[in-house]
Amino acid sequence: MESIKVGLLGLGVVGGGTWKVLARNAQEIARRAGRTIEVTRVAVRDVAKARMLLGDTVAVGADPYAVVTDPSIEIVVELIGGETLARELVLQAIANGKHVVTANKALLAKHGSEIFEAASARGVIVAFEAAVAGGIPIIKAMREGLTANRIEWVAGIINGTTNFILSEMRARGLPFETVLAEAQKLGYAEADPTFDIEGVDAAHKLTLLASLAFGIPVQFEKAYIEGISKLAAEDIKLAERLGYRIKLLGITKRRPQGIELRVHPALVPIKSMLANVEGAMNAVLVKGDAVGQTLYYGKGAGEEPTASAVVADLVDVTRLLTSDPEHRVPHLAFQPDAMADTPILSIDDVITSYYLRLTVADQPGVLADLTRLLADSGISIGSMIQQPTETASESASTSVSTSANSNASASVHSADLIFLTHEALERNVNKAIAAIEALPFVRSRVTRLRMESLA
Ligand code: NDP
Ligand code: HSE
Repeated sequence: MESIKVGLLGLGVVGGGTWKVLARNAQEIARRAGRTIEVTRVAVRDVAKARMLLGDTVAVGADPYAVVTDPSIEIVVELIGGETLARELVLQAIANGKHVVTANKALLAKHGSEIFEAASARGVIVAFEAAVAGGIPIIKAMREGLTANRIEWVAGIINGTTNFILSEMRARGLPFETVLAEAQKLGYAEADPTFDIEGVDAAHKLTLLASLAFGIPVQFEKAYIEGISKLAAEDIKLAERLGYRIKLLGITKRRPQGIELRVHPALVPIKSMLANVEGAMNAVLVKGDAVGQTLYYGKGAGEEPTASAVVADLVDVTRLLTSDPEHRVPHLAFQPDAMADTPILSIDDVITSYYLRLTVADQPGVLADLTRLLADSGISIGSMIQQPTETASESASTSVSTSANSNASASVHSADLIFLTHEALERNVNKAIAAIEALPFVRSRVTRLRMESLA
């Protein structure tokens, strides 16, 4: 049978990996797909650099539109990244009747509805396994493997760069900037690494997972996003002492009032599976009503792990080419006319447990006042520790790399309090924090971190 012709947009970390994996495993892949998958055209900016990897066997140019308009090409693989040009190219490829494979979570989280609608209308597939959790086949698992289940929640570590940064800082005591530079060198970070650090990349991926889990439209703009840049080294250490590890989590949960959709650092019990996911590894926990909890673990970023997902999509599309478009697996797991309009909840409506740290004047009555205030706000304390003040919390670092700032004179008169609460409504916790910060004996802002047991 004739080979299937593929056009590749981008030959960077993921594009280069895709080329290498396709070349190395060509025979094995053809045996699985039923046809040879052949990249016949590539678009990059630096053509000379691309030639060094590709040799003379493939047409290479700097015009990506030449790929999406080439009549011989059946599948376009978009690995350029970004939203503007990528959106135009993907929509044009679809309009030209080409199937699309993309790793671009930013594009799909923001323009997914438009793109999937256009693809369904034209009868083509948009496959995006590589867009979430790199090499882990989480899209396939949620769209097909778990299709019997009413999904209750999905939670995971879905950004390799931030997990790598947190792991290396904790285990090797390396400064934030050093580890970030290393993540960039290894090809984990986004073109704009603030997407990783500020939780935006994880929110792109979580938005897609929420759609697959609950059959809701992609709604990136409603996600609550908090990254790791304001995390203080002191809290990472304290969490460890208390039996927790801090991870950047993406959580989406079905509640009677709507759906939680949130990315933020969270304390997870040190013995939990997620706490032990280190480096650039990703892990996604999915709770279904029939299957219970399932865990998906693997490399979430990097050249060949991501290429593994891109090539899996290429094989999937090749196998489905002759299938009736009406009977293919829907892009977002649910039939397009069966999508739900369940609201996304505000972060104020989230219910979870909290870690609260503050510095107070070490004088009689302080604890009594604080515990009364928390109780009046409907917040129950699970445990509490008091320790002599080690740092000037008022100057809590804006970067995890900032070293502890010891303040000997303050430590004479101050104490640090750490409260671990039972589950509480975030709105109530915020109100309590505002009231606490107004108390005369409170000498710092309250550091508030969420805690997730994922039981
Ligand atoms: P890179 O920056 O490494 O590669 C981008 C590629 O696109 C380069 O080859 C670049 O060409 C090419 N390119 C950019 N703009 C143009 C243009 N205007 N015309 C033609 N070619 C262009 O990015 P990655 O491979 O890391 O990421 C690609 C996509 O995959 C992104 O959407 C990213 O979010 C996603 N992704 C990345 C992962 C990773 O681990 N890196 C993991 C999962 C998803 P040139 O080299 O000549 O400049
Ligand atoms: N920048 C992303 C990460 C790449 O670090 O997880 C994989 O999507």
